[in-house]
Parts: sequence; structure tokens; C-alpha cells
Amino acid sequence: MKKIVVLTGAGVSQESGIRTFRDSDGLWEEYRIEDVATYEAWENDPQLVLEFYNQRRKQLLEAKPNLAHYALVELEKKYDVQIITQNVDDLHERAGSKKVLHLHGELKKSRSSIDDSIIYPIDGWELKLGDLCEKGSQLRPHIVWFGEAVPLIELAARLTEQADIFIVIGTSLNVYPAAGLVHYIKPVIKKYLIDPNDCKTDGIENLTFIKEKAGVGVPALVDQLLKEKE
Ligand code: OAD
Repeated sequence: MKKIVVLTGAGVSQESGIRTFRDSDGLWEEYRIEDVATYEAWENDPQLVLEFYNQRRKQLLEAKPNLAHYALVELEKKYDVQIITQNVDDLHERAGSKKVLHLHGELKKSRSSIDDSIIYPIDGWELKLGDLCEKGSQLRPHIVWFGEAVPLIELAARLTEQADIFIVIGTSLNVYPAAGLVHYIKPVIKKYLIDPNDCKTDGIENLTFIKEKAGVGVPALVDQLLKEKE
């Protein structure tokens, strides 16, 4: 089976009602990264950081996968599909995708602040000061903050190298090391980029830019790729 690797960003969940980060109504217009998404922020004002992620989690519980998430599940009928997502939502899993690697962590999980290997599911939307791990330390959101290492990046790079087809959906490719994954794609393979806004694509070989929202562009591309296998 041919292997398709799909790199997704906030844009794939936009039509599910989840805000992106860098668009005009994006989250980073309303909040400063330094205040809510760094280890220093957590040390300075853990309550504010918890509130920020509690709000995100509350919204996620009300959101549903959209046509793009579901189309990627269809692709599994004829391809070995590996999703690498920068998103902390679980909409790919809820749609039914089998292989999803979360580069930046998962909103519905908490982690010990003294032992990275202790990870728990969060029941409901709220993580509070005073919620402790089994070793007695405060639980933090299971999120990779700016300035922190991205533990799964090596694995993501190896998976990217194995791709026979590569699809990028709804990411501004502004955040490293995730954005650097594109350098691991074999130059000869077909690449597709789906985003409603202009993207820098010069110099990339064998690239088809589909300038559409994910909810339109992904189902159309999936149809095409499934037909190519008939
Ligand atoms: P950005 O907000 O930087 O980029 C969102 C991309 O989605 C842009 O290129 C938009 O044009 C595009 N977009 C908007 N609506 C879309 C739609 N309906 N369909 C398809 N594309 C659409 O989000 P990311 O690139 O995901 O990290 O951001 C990367 C990381 O920065 C995030 O994982 C997060 C953030 O800070 C952390 O919090 C660690």
C-alpha cells in the first residue's frame, strides 16, 4: 500500500469552530504567546495558563470533526495514511483516523510537572490548581509550549521520509521544528497543499496548491486520490 503522510495545522479544524493562531481573528491576536504558552508563563501565572487551556478544552468539547477530517478517514480505504498534526484537538481521532501523531501535545490530557512520563486523560474541561499527579506535583496541560523540546519530531521526520505522497493542510508553517518537516519529503514524490490563503510555494517540486478551505479541498483531493487507485 502506498503511504500518504498528511501534515495538518489549525486550518483543518477551523470549520469545526476552532480558532487558528495567526489569521486575523486568530488566538495570538487576543493573547500574547509569552503570557500563556511558555514555561515562563506557567511559572509566573499558572492560573492564567490553566484558564487559557481550560477555555480551549471547553470549546473543543462542543466542536465536531468536519468534512476534511472525515475525508482523510476515507483515504485509509486505499492508502496507508499517517497524520502528523500540530493540533492539540482530537478531531482527527474522533473522525476515525487510525494513525495520528500529535507533535504539540493533546488538550484533553494533563502531565505531571516533575515527570514527563506521567500523563492522564482530563475528565471534562477543567484542569485546576491543586490537581496533582501521583507523585504529588501540580498537573500541567500536556502541551508543548514555545521554547520546549518537541519529543516526537524525530519520529515525525522518519515518517515524512517514508511518504509516497505528502499532503499539507491548513498550517502557516511558521513554527519550528514542525515547519522543517517539509525538508524531509522526498523531492520526487507528489505533494499537495490545501489552504484558502496564499502560501509561499516557490521552489518546491511536484507541488499542487489547492487554494480552498479544508472542508472543500480535502474531500475533492481524497476523491481524486481514491479514483487514481481504481
Ligand atoms: P496558524 O494559525 O499559524 O495557520 C493556520 C493556517 O490555516 C493558515 O495558513 C491559514 O491560511 C489556514 N486556514 C485558515 N482557515 C482554513 C481553512 N478553513 N481550511 C484550511 N486552511 C485554513 O496555525 P498553525 O500553522 O497550525 O503551537 O500553527 C502552528 C502552531 O503555532 C500551533 O500548533 C500552535 C501555534 O502557536 C503551539 O501552541 C505550540
